[in-house]
Amino acid sequence: MNGLTPNCLDDFLFSNAADQGLLKLILGRKLPFPFNGKSGILLHGTWGTGKSTLAKLLPELLETAYSGTWDNTQQVGQMAAPEASCTQTELFRCGGGLASPVITQKVVTHNARLNIWHFSKHSYFLFDEVDRLTTGAQQSLRSTMDLKRCMFFFTTNYLNRIDSGIVNRCHLVEMNQITSPAAYLPLGQSILRDLGMATGVVTDATLAGLAIRARGSLRDYNHSVMMAGLAQGGQVPS
Ligand SMILES: Nc1ncnc2c1ncn2[C@@H]1O[C@H](COP(=O)(O)OP(=O)(O)OP(=O)(O)O)[C@@H](O)[C@H]1O
Ligand SMILES: [Mg+2]
Repeated sequence: MNGLTPNCLDDFLFSNAADQGLLKLILGRKLPFPFNGKSGILLHGTWGTGKSTLAKLLPELLETAYSGTWDNTQQVGQMAAPEASCTQTELFRCGGGLASPVITQKVVTHNARLNIWHFSKHSYFLFDEVDRLTTGAQQSLRSTMDLKRCMFFFTTNYLNRIDSGIVNRCHLVEMNQITSPAAYLPLGQSILRDLGMATGVVTDATLAGLAIRARGSLRDYNHSVMMAGLAQGGQVPS
C-alpha cells in the first residue's frame, strides 16, 4: 500500500472482487482488451473513491504490461506504473460545452496514426465525468468506440446518465464505499507511517471509525487520518 501516492492496482479499493479480478486479467494480458466489442473501462461510484486517479493510472499500467519488462509470475496487482509517465493519454474533462465534433476528430485522428509508439499499439482516451457530456456527444462518442486502435477509460458518479451504447461497450468497475471498514486499515496505516508514526499510536478502531464516517471518500478518509496523525505528533514529510 503506497499511502497517498497509489501506483499499482492493489493500492485501490474495489466494491467487489469480480471487478478487481477483471482488471487483473486485462493487466496480466490474460483477457485481451479491446475484445468482443468491449473497448472501454468505466469506473463508476460515489465521490472521492479514486476513480479519476485510477483512470489516469490504467494506461500507464497497460504500458508496463505490454512493455515486456514485467515478470508475469509476480502478482499483477503489485505491478507499478513507471515513475516518469510514458503514455500520451488524451484527457477530456467533460462538461463546459465539450462538443462531439472535437471528440470525434481527436479520436479519429489518433486512430489513423500508423506509428503509435505505445507498447500496446493503441491510443488512450480518458473521459473524466463522462456523464457531463450532452446526449448527442455521448452518442457520437459511442460510434468512435468501435475504432480498432483505441482504448477508452471513463469515470462517472452517475452511471444512469451514461448512454446505454457506451455502457454496453465497457467493462464496468464499481468503486463505492466498502462495507467492511477493515478494508481501509492498510491505507490508513500507510499514511500514518508516512507521517513517521509508530504502529498503534492511532488505533485501528479509530481508523475504522474514520473509514465509516468518510463513506468511501478517500478525500475525507485521507484527510481525517492525517489530522488524527498530526494530533498525535506525526509530521508531514517535507
Ligand atoms: N488508492 C488511493 N490511495 C490513496 N489516496 C487515493 C487513492 N485514490 C485516490 N486517492 C486520493 O483521493 C482523492 C480523491 O481521488 P479521485 O479524485 O481519484 O476520486 P474520484 O472517485 O475521481 O472522485 P469524484 O467522484 O469526486 O470525481 C485524491 O486526493 C486522491 O489523491
Ligand atoms: Mg473524479
